[in-house]
Amino acid sequence: MSTHKPAKIPPFPHIAASAHISSETVRQSFCDTALSQRDAFWTQLSKVIKFHKPFNEVLEWKVPRASWFKGGELNVSENCLDRHLRDRGDKTAIIWEGEPEGQTRKLTWSELHALTCRISNALHAQGVVKGDRVLVYMPMVPETVATMQACARLGAIHTVVFGGFSSQSISDRLQDSGAKVIVTADGTYRKGRFMKLKSVVDEALTKGSHSVTSVLVFRRDAAQECAMTAGRDFSWEESVLKASPARAPLPLDSEDPLFILYTSGTTGKPKGLYHTQAGYLLWAHWSTRWLFDVQDNDIFWCTADCGWITGHTYIAYGPLSNGLTQFMYEGAPTHPHKDRFWEMIDRHKISTLYTSPTAIRMFMSSGEELPAKHSLASLRILGSVGEPINPEAWNWFFENIGHKRCPIVDTYWQTETGGAMVAPFPGATVLKPGSATKGLPGVLLDVVDPDTGKSLGRGKKGALIIREPWPSMARGIWGDPARFEKTYWRSSPAFDGVYLTGDLAMFDDEGDLWVEGRMDDVLNVSGHRIGTAEVESALVGHQDIYEAAAVGVPDAIKGQGIVVFVELTEKAYRDIASGKRDIDSIKNEAREQVGLEIGSFAKPNEVRIAKALPKTRSGKIMRRLLRELAVNGEIRGDTSTLEDFSKDALTEE
Ligand code: PRX
Repeated sequence: MSTHKPAKIPPFPHIAASAHISSETVRQSFCDTALSQRDAFWTQLSKVIKFHKPFNEVLEWKVPRASWFKGGELNVSENCLDRHLRDRGDKTAIIWEGEPEGQTRKLTWSELHALTCRISNALHAQGVVKGDRVLVYMPMVPETVATMQACARLGAIHTVVFGGFSSQSISDRLQDSGAKVIVTADGTYRKGRFMKLKSVVDEALTKGSHSVTSVLVFRRDAAQECAMTAGRDFSWEESVLKASPARAPLPLDSEDPLFILYTSGTTGKPKGLYHTQAGYLLWAHWSTRWLFDVQDNDIFWCTADCGWITGHTYIAYGPLSNGLTQFMYEGAPTHPHKDRFWEMIDRHKISTLYTSPTAIRMFMSSGEELPAKHSLASLRILGSVGEPINPEAWNWFFENIGHKRCPIVDTYWQTETGGAMVAPFPGATVLKPGSATKGLPGVLLDVVDPDTGKSLGRGKKGALIIREPWPSMARGIWGDPARFEKTYWRSSPAFDGVYLTGDLAMFDDEGDLWVEGRMDDVLNVSGHRIGTAEVESALVGHQDIYEAAAVGVPDAIKGQGIVVFVELTEKAYRDIASGKRDIDSIKNEAREQVGLEIGSFAKPNEVRIAKALPKTRSGKIMRRLLRELAVNGEIRGDTSTLEDFSKDALTEE
């Protein structure tokens, strides 16, 4: 946090006038009631959900297992689609633009409902039943949202893998989730190129063991080549489009899993967090409504990919549950020109733009003349998510995109939390550039001493925790309940029974929260979570690399970048000495290796070769020193616990 007093922007009267939560008093009373009369509060809010069977208990909580709306039965897809058919059947649910200019589609609620039913029937024909896992590796097209909804309709559990992930990452997720069907597409347009997706799936299916019996293939561009394996692969035309447009939603238990989403932690193995039905839907519904102050004629655009949690909660579920028309865009923000975003906002009269600090910083770097060429008058509310937003980027967004009349809703949350935990209410909260402000109703935050777990009060930085369960909390790590308990709910005796976010934060003297970033070995590159251990385990898969350490460095656009230090094998050194290999090609291969194992978005900014990595007596790599070296070019810290460490050991070859 900067030392000077932050700017304060009071709520705009033109927003407050029609806002669902129109004053700080109302917001505060919601928060108070959520804690003092928990059951009554959630029972009241749960009335937006259509239950087939009413629940008999709001919350059963036995650390770390929560059952929200216990005993209830519902179907999430019915709540997002069927519920709107009567009043909003002809309303546009999704407006879509492909990256190649001029490609636009619109789907009404009726059309999206029919498409979802067809996909459900196609999945069912492949033997998918309640509880089965379906891996989704798709571009940003309406069919992706419909596939997620189709799984929800059947009670199948989707696990969406971001299209930038490698075949190895797909293979790991197939094994861990035990998915039996994959839904994918031939490819997608990105920066003017057709990026293949199906061939990545084909490659994943040749790796390791898996339980996949069929692959449904959507054709994004029928003119592109797309190899199909007979008996395993099914075209969209024959499987989906020929299926019936009707399928009854299956009533599910409130606590049946809805989806698994993999995210990075501190080990080399990503965690499959899973979320369940009623609590997740309730939070997706109300957080969308409150934070983006949903109005009937809004056009909402969340720029995330459906492969991340933001794309789940604020594309696939929250807007649909609210009957909110949304815009979806396939490609790169700067293609074919750098003002593509601003053009689309004017073209579709978008009212709400929810994006990331990385995107904002990228737009900043190409100058304010570009947005200035566009009206942007339709915008009403702006949002930010994924990483701390620096006040410079906040102000730029506020002035150049929001023209000082659109509140910025900075939402702090995680894959694990299922929806926004800390954020201003646009008609009620005083904004401070860089602060996500206050907890949502029912979110009992605290900042505590990382060693003792004792509350630090205001003005001191510490570990951010959540003291009470909330409806959209992840219910577990797929197949690894012990890891879930240990990582989040009982990480140490000082943190027994409270939720550890892993973030460093501080409350200011008015109780507004400033989140600084991760306290653990997790990096946040362009808002994407990447574990240092994952990068390291990818690197040591290279034949010439003996050991590796990855550290985060500040990056003007991406927020954080990755620098890796690698120690080579003796054979590699001999090959270099004899001229068979050269250092530059090893460095390039090391970057490529990370791209192959994880995905291009995780490629390091820089690869440095060290003679030996610095270690503690117990053999732990001293990342702190490497970070200093990567950032400052020198080491000033205390090195007394190092063994066999000399300054020489860190100099580059
Ligand atoms: O460090 C926090 C940061 O992103 C992490 C969660 O990443 P992920 O699970 O991928 O979810 C991202 C989308 C919700 C957090 O632990 N983070 C997310 N939003 C913010 C943030 N840090 C500061 N301010 C935010 N608004």
